[in-house]
Amino acid sequence: MGEGSTDTPQGVGHGGGREASHVPVLLKEAIDFLSVRRGGTYIDATVGLGGHSYEIAKRLGALGHLIGLDKDPTALEIARRRLTAESEDWPEITLLHRSFAQIADGQQPATIDGILADLGVSSLQLDSAERGFSFQADGPLDMRMDPQSERTAEQVVNHLDERELADVIYEFGEERRSRRIARAIVRSRPIRSTAHLADVISAAARPMNQAERKIHPATRTFQALRIFVNRELDDLRALLEAAPRILKPGGRVVVISFHSLEDRIVKDAFRDGEKKYKYFRVLTRKPVTASEEERDRNPRARSAKMRAAERISKKFSSGKPAGAPGMAVMAVPGPKDQVATNADASQK
Ligand SMILES: C[S@@+](CC[C@H](N)C(=O)[O-])C[C@H]1O[C@@H](n2cnc3c(N)ncnc32)[C@H](O)[C@@H]1O
Repeated sequence: MGEGSTDTPQGVGHGGGREASHVPVLLKEAIDFLSVRRGGTYIDATVGLGGHSYEIAKRLGALGHLIGLDKDPTALEIARRRLTAESEDWPEITLLHRSFAQIADGQQPATIDGILADLGVSSLQLDSAERGFSFQADGPLDMRMDPQSERTAEQVVNHLDERELADVIYEFGEERRSRRIARAIVRSRPIRSTAHLADVISAAARPMNQAERKIHPATRTFQALRIFVNRELDDLRALLEAAPRILKPGGRVVVISFHSLEDRIVKDAFRDGEKKYKYFRVLTRKPVTASEEERDRNPRARSAKMRAAERISKKFSSGKPAGAPGMAVMAVPGPKDQVATNADASQK
């Protein structure tokens, strides 16, 4: 466990109003591992509704700076209100509508004390039927974290050919019944709503054993579509590649993930950063998971895995782009950076 402060709350109840609820996962553990330093500069790469950010901000003091990123402008608006100055000892807060794939834009090398990424969707997104993330409530097939991005789940479901669709469902959902599901989807087109899609999947992929009966048949396909629509794995790889460039020696990166595809990417990046490139020291040999108490209180915490690494002062070894010069670009907190369209090809 990191040497962070001891007054971290166990969960909900942090300040700034309760307009939309999202219970931050592994809050105490994440703050401890970040080891927030007064006067430091920290990036919350997934500011969401500001739960983790609020705890970081409280510890920074007036000379500190918290930079929060999110793809979702609605989340940023809520975070902006939650992170309003509470006292004269409040840090500077900068909130940017952008993907964390662009985390290094506008940052000089070795200037950041800590980075937190709490991956996935927020309750705000999941619970809003009109955002189309959930098969529990009927809504349009959207699933975009950033409503200004181009690709929706409806386009993917209705326009990918059967084979591509099966590949997406297999690769990003780890769904063994991907071919059968893709065939059923193609036969049922057009599919415009989450409920219609969930019905088609349920009819095509009946649970084959006891373990499968425990989760809804559409769970893996919905996960796959969400990851594909939002290019989540490409963004995560870009974040992990940029992190060592912008972290100060001693700076930390803490990542909370919610499924094995994400966790594997984090684990491999930290391991390579330590063993191969020698710019990280891994702080978590095994992932940190939620206590039984937190799992009971917050079902979302059940699949959470947190890993942390510290930037060490050794120079980058050759061959790795991290630390490459010329990475600093002006940050423009106005219109968001466009997500590169060629990510389509790379995440298939
Ligand atoms: C689990 S929530 C974060 C919740 C936050 N820690 C809190 O306590 O309120 C994840 C957030 O990350 C955002 N997000 C996911 N992927 C992103 C990316 N590549 N770039 C920027 N934001 C992203 C989502 O829009 C969502 O608001």
